[in-house]
Amino acid sequence: MRIDKLLANSSAIGRKEIKQYIRKGLVMCNDTVIKDPSVHVDETLDKITLNGKRVVYRKFVYLMLNKPEGYVSATFDKKLPVVTELVPEQYSHFEVFPVGRLDIDTHGLLLLTNDGDLAHRLLSPKSHVDKTYFVKSSKPIKDDDAVIFENGIDLGDFTTLPAKIEPISKDKKESLVTICEGKFHQVKRMFEAIDNEVIYLKRISMGGLKLDESLEEGECRELTAEELANIE
Ligand code: URA
Repeated sequence: MRIDKLLANSSAIGRKEIKQYIRKGLVMCNDTVIKDPSVHVDETLDKITLNGKRVVYRKFVYLMLNKPEGYVSATFDKKLPVVTELVPEQYSHFEVFPVGRLDIDTHGLLLLTNDGDLAHRLLSPKSHVDKTYFVKSSKPIKDDDAVIFENGIDLGDFTTLPAKIEPISKDKKESLVTICEGKFHQVKRMFEAIDNEVIYLKRISMGGLKLDESLEEGECRELTAEELANIE
């Protein structure tokens, strides 16, 4: 692997900046200064240092995005902005993709990674990872809605698995909804089935991962080691 790629993969430093470090002679491979960013090194055997500090190679990156509305959960779209446009430049070479989809008008937690195996495990229909949404609805939640969600709702093409709904505001127009599937427009369709309508939808957790509320909409940050360990 090229040394500039290895360094970019192993730090939060952009590739351009890394090239400058290399040219300044701040990068060493097995105690020899490397001044050419295209030099190939062995990421498993060679001892690479940047500014005297050992660099540990990493292949994958895991980003938590607070998705704003107006972005498609994809890496490319012919017409509309996509969530990967919100990923800071220093992560661009990782070629991350969104784990699952939020609708274009849905806000909140979206995991972006280049770890295909993790994405597959989280998205597998068998895995039933809980996803919790903050919902604002046009009408108040009724007392029996919780039982309807718990029993599963026949949406025509499938019946939902047991889900939870809990009103959290006085007027009962704000609620927390937890589903363990991720079918197309699922929460919106479940609200239609109880004669209600979603007017604002924000995912606040997925498995063990909670949205960091200090992230502004459109911002992302890397998961901590603890978040990554608890995600599944
Ligand atoms: N349910 C929906 O209806 N939309 C989403 O984006 C996510 C869950």
